[in-house]
Amino acid sequence: MNMAAVKGCSALVTGANRGLGLEMVKQLVEAHCSIVFAGCRDPDGANSEALRELAKKHPGVVTLVRLDVADPSSIKESVKKVSSLLGNSGLNLLVNNAAVLQQKTMLNATVEEMQDTFNTNVIGPFLVTREFLPRLRSAAKASDKPGMSCDKAAIINISSDTASLSLVHVEKAFPLFPYSISKAALNMLTAHTAMELKEDEILCVSIHPGWVKTDMGGDRAPLTPRDSVAGLLHVVSSLTEKEHGGFMDHTGKTMPW
Ligand SMILES: NC(=O)c1ccc[n+]([C@@H]2O[C@H](COP(=O)([O-])OP(=O)(O)OC[C@H]3O[C@@H](n4cnc5c(N)ncnc54)[C@H](OP(=O)(O)O)[C@@H]3O)[C@@H](O)[C@H]2O)c1
Repeated sequence: MNMAAVKGCSALVTGANRGLGLEMVKQLVEAHCSIVFAGCRDPDGANSEALRELAKKHPGVVTLVRLDVADPSSIKESVKKVSSLLGNSGLNLLVNNAAVLQQKTMLNATVEEMQDTFNTNVIGPFLVTREFLPRLRSAAKASDKPGMSCDKAAIINISSDTASLSLVHVEKAFPLFPYSISKAALNMLTAHTAMELKEDEILCVSIHPGWVKTDMGGDRAPLTPRDSVAGLLHVVSSLTEKEHGGFMDHTGKTMPW
């Protein structure tokens, strides 16, 4: 696997205490990222024990950061903490991974469920991206590499095949009304962010991680977090300006919007 691109990089992953986020932190460490900020809403809680263990094993490399992406003040606090640890260096890689899924249909989803899902899955990545933008810009400016790449500055929005308008008809077995609408909005967020940050040479893409055995994906999912994240990080490592603003899966295959 070509993971050399992330060696020596700084990265922030949201929703890093379990599932794909936790696995991303593990594999970024294995790929010799110099510092990985692991965002989670409750760093001291039982749900973050595995992450605390990982941080203990890699002191100075894995740093837990309290970050509730649905809470703007928590996002601001996390920027302060990350910035103080980074000093003059920028942030190379931002992975907007945290998300929630409520199994609801158009007929039974409540307004509150729609709002909660949007707060976490859309407004969260929007604000996290905007608040961390100065750090990403510093990383892009400090790099002498031409074009775009993940070791310069990149935003990876973890999307879903359920975001795809062209695939709605094949997805109807699952009641994912609030979730899939939020991920479609996340994809539009990727497209706009890519357009607005093009001049800064900050790469931005949406990636579908595959259907994966996590709390969200369930036991029937065919992929392990290990394989999904290995593929995903391989794709991330090879991204260039050609993929900027695009939507792909963990194998690098282009996804239909
Ligand atoms: N698994 C799949 O098959 C699959 C398929 C397509 C896309 N995805 C996407 O992949 C990403 C990771 O999913 P997963 O399968 O790892 O899900 P998961 O096992 O349910 O984990 C979700 C993570 O997001 C965190 N989170 C939720 N709300 C948050 C908030 N407001 N602030 C901060 N963190 C929050 C959770 O933290 P707590 O422990 O605090 O709840 C947890 O760490 C998501 O974007 C998901 O939509 C997954």
